Parts: sequence; structure tokens; C-alpha cells
Amino acid sequence: MRSVSIKELLTGKQLLQEITVNGWVRTFRSNRFIALNDGSTLHNIQCVVDFEKFDDAILKHVNTGAALKITGTLVESQGKGQSVEIQVRDIFVHGGADPEVYPIQPKKHSLEFLREKAHLRVRTNTFSAVMRVRSALAFAIHQYFRDNGFYYFHAPIITGSDAEGAGEMFRVTTLDEKNPPLKEDGTVDFKEDFFGKETNLTVSGQLEAEAYAMALGKVYTFGPTFRAENSNTSRHLAEFWMIEPEMAFYDLDANMDLAEDFIKYVIRYVLDHCEEDLKFLETRLLDEEKTKPQAERSEMALIEKLKFITDNNFKRVTYTEAIEILRNSSPNKKKKFQYLIDEWGADLQSEHERYLVEKHFKCPVILFDYPAKIKAFYMRLNEDGKTVRAMDILFPGIGEIVGGSQREERLDVLKQKMAALDIPEEELWWYLDLRKFGTAVHSGFGLGFERLVLFATGMGNIRDVIPFPRTPQNAEF
Ligand code: 4AD
Ligand code: MG
Repeated sequence: MRSVSIKELLTGKQLLQEITVNGWVRTFRSNRFIALNDGSTLHNIQCVVDFEKFDDAILKHVNTGAALKITGTLVESQGKGQSVEIQVRDIFVHGGADPEVYPIQPKKHSLEFLREKAHLRVRTNTFSAVMRVRSALAFAIHQYFRDNGFYYFHAPIITGSDAEGAGEMFRVTTLDEKNPPLKEDGTVDFKEDFFGKETNLTVSGQLEAEAYAMALGKVYTFGPTFRAENSNTSRHLAEFWMIEPEMAFYDLDANMDLAEDFIKYVIRYVLDHCEEDLKFLETRLLDEEKTKPQAERSEMALIEKLKFITDNNFKRVTYTEAIEILRNSSPNKKKKFQYLIDEWGADLQSEHERYLVEKHFKCPVILFDYPAKIKAFYMRLNEDGKTVRAMDILFPGIGEIVGGSQREERLDVLKQKMAALDIPEEELWWYLDLRKFGTAVHSGFGLGFERLVLFATGMGNIRDVIPFPRTPQNAEF
């Protein structure tokens, strides 16, 4: 007999039919009521057991965490809390879970405790809801780009270039760590390495996406990226997923329009498709916030906050305007910021981004036209000679969620910028070729997928929205 998902059973369509369902026991009450979950939905199905009909040898395995196959009749429920339930005829135990040692017991576990059990935490309501929303968001992203004429492009994961120029990369090598070949000056000779040059895990697929945009028109990447920055924050991972659209013939305004439309679409998608999970996560967040001081609680509940994003325009502000606002802000005057804003040209820290979004504008903000000095080499220089066509999107509770720009398409200007930053032309000869042959205005951006999931689920720590987080000192599992 075909087994049915719990999601399907709960629609009640199989009422009075004999059905088979597989899943894991969440609770077993009074030797009579099994709450079974199979991950297809947040909800469990109640399975009612007439224990006199069952051998103790079987029932003793019906513990929280055990995997069961249950056959029985779907009937209208007598009890409160569910509309249908299963009258159990047969139980097959796929595998038990010893209650003495199974860590995910039916009680509240802290998120910190569950992080240590990342292989089992998805068996809780919170993590299964987060991961279903994550999956829906990923699907919505592909849907959006497909509907808008983009091609899905696969950027390489091993790369010889440092796209962001930040130097925070993980090296990929097959050289003997104890006895690497050395050059005359005593440094490692990467000519002898697997690829005949120094290679790393990519920090961004952008440079390669640019090559593809200059032929396919509109492309996007959606893949893992890696950063060896030693920042142990609730917003940083060493391995995270990034979505990077790149569009030929788009200027910065068109780029900002696309980014805003895209984010609104994917959030609307989860509002429409993940209602139950979002409601559950909203309640979880409200409970968590009760333990915080009033001032730190968010003003909106989760679903209201998501609707606020889809229903309102993002505020577009230049870096120069933002610096003026920050310079005159009360936390700056009262020296409450850790990094005081003094002069034009200062890099914005997350405290400043969050002040702009959460206190000043009270809506998502797109900052653009940043000082060239604090941004990557590939961004297009403005006429003023000191700002570039960069844009960052800042979100409440998150800070930067998107970073993007119009790219420098002029060969001479790009060469000058690279020279000023000591980036050798030989390293990026192919990137320069794109400016030699059929160059054109083009733009793109990168959205941090986990930061989006963080926002959409109302979770507080980025480690809790990716299945197996990689952070400094942590690559278990
Ligand atoms: O601002 P970033 O560094 O931009 C780029 O990599 C560009 N090449 C993108 C482009 O124009 N195609 O990173 C983009 C986004 C950030 O806004 C942030 O959301 C996310 O990636 N991000 C991280 N997310 C998690 N952990 C980290 N360590 C992250 N670093 C960046
Ligand atoms: Mg950035």
C-alpha cells in the first residue's frame, strides 16, 4: 500500500479509508496517543492505539524519536486539537530511539543546546519550520529569475581570483603541508600545486557572472561562497549561499529597481506559501521577546514585518546624505556609537546601518554612491572622481542584506583603479578582456541567502538558519 504524507492526511480527503503513514514519534501519551510527524507539515497526526490489542514488545519501542509505519483508518477526531486522527490497526517499528540517550525530548531546548545537535535539531518544530521556509525561499528565487528572463549560471567554486579584494579566502591545495616545494626566496612555489597556481574557495561568483552576462544578457548564480573572516557574529558564516544576478545594459537605478522587486517577490512568496510555519515562528519570536527588555523588542510581529516589506518602497539615500544624518544623530553626539562618525569617507558599521533603518527611516534603505576608497575595485567611478556606483540594501534587525553596484565598463578607468590597488593586470587579464571586446554598461548585486532566511523566519542567529553552519572553530558534522 502506498503511504500518504501527513500533510495530505490532514486535509481529510481519505476519511474512513485505510491508510499507511510513516514518520517519527513526537510524543506518546497515556499509552494511547501517538503524535507522529513526517516533516511534510508542522502538524502531527494523532494516532490512537488500543493498547490492549498491542504487544508490550512493540509498544515499548514507541518512544519520542522512534521511526514508525502506522496502518489504520482515518476517522474524525473525538478529541480537541485536530480534525482527523488514525485508529491504529498495525504498528511497524522501523527503528527505536532510546529515551535514556535520545537528546530531543518533548520539552523546550535552548537554541544553543540544539546547535550542538545539528544533525537532530531539524526534528524540532522550530528547525523544521525554518528549513521549510528556507526551501520555499530558494524555490521562489529560481522562480523569480526564470519568470524574468534570467539564465541560471554556475560559477566555479575553486578560483584563482579574489573578487572582493579582501584577501579573506580559504586556500585550496594538494601540496604536502610538511614539505611544500619552495621558491628561491623561501616562499611556497604554487607552480607545483595542483592547478599550477595559488587557488582558493570563491568569495563571490560575480567576476565570472559578468563574463556570462556579456553574452547571455541576464544571468544569476545561486551557490555556496566562502569567507575566512574571523568574525564571530550572529550575521556571519564562513560558508554561506549567495544569489548574484548580473545584467548587461543595466545601470545602477535599474539594478536597485530589480533588487527591490526581487526581494519583495520572494517575501510575498513565503507569505503566500508558508503561512503555518510563519505563524508558528511568529509565536516563537513573541515568546522569546517576552524575556527581553521592552526597548529591545521589535515593534512589529513577524508576519506584519514581512508585509511591511512587500507593501512599502525602500528608501533610497546617498552615502553622503546618510553620513550627514549619522553625524547629527543623537547616538553620535552622545558618543553612544562604538565607531563615531566624524568625516565623510568613514566606513559604515552595522550599528550605523541599523540606526538608519531602525531609528531614522524605519524602513528598508538602499544606500548608494559610496566613497570609492571603501568599496571594491570593479565598481563604476562617478563623475565626481571620488564616489562609485555602489549600493547596499539595509534591513531592520539584519543590517546589510544586499551589496551590489554598476560595474566599471571603461577599460582605462578599470586599469587605473586596479593599478591604484596593486592588483596585477596578469591576474585578471580575462576580466579586462570583457572591457576590450564589446564592453557595455552592466550591473549586479549579491544577496546573502542566510540573511534573507534570518529575516523571513525572525530567527536571531545566522547559525540557526543553515543546516550545518561553518563558523570559526566550528565545522562539526
Ligand atoms: O557585499 P558583498 O561582499 O558583495 C559581493 O560579494 C559582491 N560580489 C556581490 C555582487 O555584486 N555580485 O556580499 C553580498 C552579500 C552581503 O550583502 C551579505 O548579505 C552577504 O552577501 N554576506 C554574508 N552572509 C553571511 N556571512 C558572511 N560572512 C557574509 N558576507 C557577505
Ligand atoms: Mg558588502
